[in-house]
Amino acid sequence: MADDKAQLHLNNLSDPIELPIHKGTAGPDVIDVRGLVQAGYFTYDPGFVSTAACESKITYIDGEKGILLHRGYPIGQLAADSDYLETCYLLLNGELPNKEQKDEFVNTVKNHTMVNEQISDFFTGFRRDAHPMAIMCGVVGALSAFYHDSLDITLERHREISAFRLIAKMPTLAAMCYKYSIGQPFVYPKNDLDFAENFLHMMFSTPCADTPISPVVAKAMDRIFILHADHEQNASTSTVRLAGSTGANPFACIAAGIAALWGPAHGGANEAVLDMLDEIGDISRIPEYIEKAKDKSDPFLLMGFGHRVYKNFDPRATVMRESCHEVLKELGITDPQLELAMKLEEIALKDPYFIEKKLFPNVDFYSGIILKAIGIPTSMFTVIFALARTAGWISHWQEMISNSYKIGRPRQLYTGYEARDFTPLDKRD
Ligand code: SDX
Repeated sequence: MADDKAQLHLNNLSDPIELPIHKGTAGPDVIDVRGLVQAGYFTYDPGFVSTAACESKITYIDGEKGILLHRGYPIGQLAADSDYLETCYLLLNGELPNKEQKDEFVNTVKNHTMVNEQISDFFTGFRRDAHPMAIMCGVVGALSAFYHDSLDITLERHREISAFRLIAKMPTLAAMCYKYSIGQPFVYPKNDLDFAENFLHMMFSTPCADTPISPVVAKAMDRIFILHADHEQNASTSTVRLAGSTGANPFACIAAGIAALWGPAHGGANEAVLDMLDEIGDISRIPEYIEKAKDKSDPFLLMGFGHRVYKNFDPRATVMRESCHEVLKELGITDPQLELAMKLEEIALKDPYFIEKKLFPNVDFYSGIILKAIGIPTSMFTVIFALARTAGWISHWQEMISNSYKIGRPRQLYTGYEARDFTPLDKRD
């Protein structure tokens, strides 16, 4: 794997330290710093800005060019021509399925859509006004107390069953969160529906009446799932990998991922975008909010803007914006928030601050407007991100566990006290 070597010259060492350089199939070369520890040094990289924490074959991003590939396939092509479950298969297995493999995969997912009846008891422990992400963290974590028949993570088959269970049960749990919040009975999954239709059925039907599902809405929902399915080593996926590196229960690892996703700097941004658009309220107030976003003494940021990796358009945002227009047009909805969002994007992209810092709309900028048009309440936006990202989380967990891995254990630059003697309480000032 090492093709080249870097030499690190340190003033207090007579000989340079040689560090191997690894070449990936794409992307920048990577300096392997593992040998530094023998020389008594660590590297310092808060936020992992220039650190690759693992090797992976799942997803590739070229942030300068705005390219996102899953197993080599461009996200735009997957969003246009694939469907979510096929994308899940691709992420998990590395190749697109043939017809037979796809049918088998879809049927297996369908066999796992119900949750153990006792899971519903967990919901009643939550307040009705709890944030659905708080409930998701709890109930997905609770799944780790079930399914003892297949929890030996050293067995490929057991890991596969956990992956099926997670992908299949997330829509059921997500819809249960919504139903609980509005005081309606839970709706069981219906296996003659496809993945997105089934989710919408569990969200909007009741035990008394099925709500018809528009094919336009189901297609848009499925596309949103595809666009959120994976994004290499983002904060929540890295959290799942870190938790998984201890050998922890896979359902608990995914609950950790959900917790990491919730923050407004990550998946919580889709909810924050609509709150922000609500707050701005009118196109005439955009300049005021652009100034607030640039003002370092003001905590306000343009939500749905900026990205650690993309220094160009997030290709998912481009698809999402197109999809937004299509869905609103087909549903005959005119949403002033879409107009506001487009104007905000236009003004920000011309502003020297956003140009210089290469801040572009990310996946979260337009997704909320489509979700709103579909009838999904704002508080459920991040839950939907979590539902879709489960495919990526479990694929990365699988990849890690099925290869050799070490427990994730970063080091630190210690700046606290040196050793000092304990002072008994009666001698302290
Ligand atoms: C997701 O990593 C992934 O792949 C995540 C994701 C996925 O699919 O998993 O793509 C999903 O999390 C999308 C991001 C959603 N978050 C937001 O939309 C929240 C708003 N954006 C940010 O807070 C921010 O841009 C981040 C968190 C997304 C990226 O943070 P970085 O890489 O640590 O960059 P930074 O905060 O250091 O920003 C660099 C500069 C700073 O200014 P300076 O200190 O250099 O003067 O850009 C400024 C920031 O203040 N900046 C913004 C801004 N984002 C960054 N200024 C105004 N508005 C913004 N949105």
